[in-house]
Amino acid sequence: MRLTDELRKQLRITVDYTNMTDKYLGEKGISKRVLDAHKKLAKQAHAYVSENRGKDELFMGWTELPYNQSEIVEDILATAKDVRKKFDYFVVLGIGGSALGPTMAFNALCHLHYNDLPKSKRKGPKFYVEDNVDPVRMKELLDVIDIEKTCFNVISKSGATSETMTQYLIVSDLLKKAGRNVKDHVIFTTDAQRGNLVKISKELGGVKSFVLGDGVGGRFSELSPVGLLPAAVLGIDIKLLLKGAAYMDKLCKSSDLNRNPALLSATLQYIAMKDGKNIGVLMPYSDNLRYVSDWYAQLWAESLGKNVTLGGEACNVGQTPVKALGVTDQHSQVQLYTEGPFDKVVTFLSVGSYKEKSPIPHGCESIPDVSFLGGHTMEELIRAENKATAYALTKAGRLNYTVCLPEVNEFTLGQLLYYFELQTAYAGAMLNINTFNQPGVEAGKKATFALLGKPGYESQRAELDKAAPDEAYIV
Ligand code: PA5
Repeated sequence: MRLTDELRKQLRITVDYTNMTDKYLGEKGISKRVLDAHKKLAKQAHAYVSENRGKDELFMGWTELPYNQSEIVEDILATAKDVRKKFDYFVVLGIGGSALGPTMAFNALCHLHYNDLPKSKRKGPKFYVEDNVDPVRMKELLDVIDIEKTCFNVISKSGATSETMTQYLIVSDLLKKAGRNVKDHVIFTTDAQRGNLVKISKELGGVKSFVLGDGVGGRFSELSPVGLLPAAVLGIDIKLLLKGAAYMDKLCKSSDLNRNPALLSATLQYIAMKDGKNIGVLMPYSDNLRYVSDWYAQLWAESLGKNVTLGGEACNVGQTPVKALGVTDQHSQVQLYTEGPFDKVVTFLSVGSYKEKSPIPHGCESIPDVSFLGGHTMEELIRAENKATAYALTKAGRLNYTVCLPEVNEFTLGQLLYYFELQTAYAGAMLNINTFNQPGVEAGKKATFALLGKPGYESQRAELDKAAPDEAYIV
């Protein structure tokens, strides 16, 4: 795709917040007065993010990923080419921020049944992201791949995550038993110096590795080698993805709410949170965008769910992300969104033009309930249902807004990711919390170490043993 200024404009994603306003929602909506009253806070949040962009010590290195990776991108492209030549399967071993992005980009930009396509119709090897330690899943993955024809991309910043390292132990053992050199079948994406994968790489005699920079946390890492290598292996245009992110960065330069889409939506969400809207539903009307909700759920939940402000005061903030899919979940969750508690903001992800239209043929002429569909397209139907659901929620006084991608491609996905990352950073600044740490996740990781006997965790093990279930409460 050759990006002209005109094409950039055509492919620009937009945020329509009509249905958040009191003009359309009545007293349940946000008034201009309230929005204006938050302009100062929004400006401060914008200034905080702008002043600290790129600072590794604050975990804000992600802001620069669209600009500072030209050499890395060339290395990734060369490595991906090599992987495509040598392997029939590419398996990502990782969890959380190391897995959600690759899954999302795969689903968004590849054929929805990619692995079922014949080799001639795929741009790369079959692709799997293993982000759990369900023993059945591991065994059944091994049933469908040929380990001798598989490249494993082990993604872990720390190299100490039990789930990922368990998977590594299993596949490296199998490779050895098959008489293969482990080094030839793995690529590491990890910290530059620290971390166990660096040590393992040395022991194996130097594994091909990519660096996850110090200032880039897992959930902000999709535009780093964490996401770019798997995407490149799949034939996704990673340069265009980065250009999309850079374009959104440009669109968000202003501290004026009306000229900065990420700042606007962060402010609307902040106002809604303060008014008790503790649930944020993300509802893409596109199967390709389905896993954007999973990726976003981690970004929003892990970043904003905090119990202390930057000033050290106790707080319990955040908004629970809920994943929904249009139109599928109209037939399961929308009843609750329309008539249940007033505790939600629904964000629709809409698509201007789907890559397929799928015409609906005429038929069943004697049954008007069915025949009216003939002559339309499935694209018209999904768009109508999207519009109709937004209308129904608005009539019921429910806060909702729409982020529209003119089409789903690398450029628009890059914009969307950067938009959500900036929105999260702005919202965290408004809440005055540390957006980029995750102490709540660390606590669970440490308890797992203790339960499985990791040296150094003996006292925590004793504490956990004492907290064993009480028979009196087991029915
Ligand atoms: O967002 C995060 O930081 C987490 O989800 C991590 O990505 C996840 O816990 C995996 O950590 P690591 O990359 O160290 O294996």
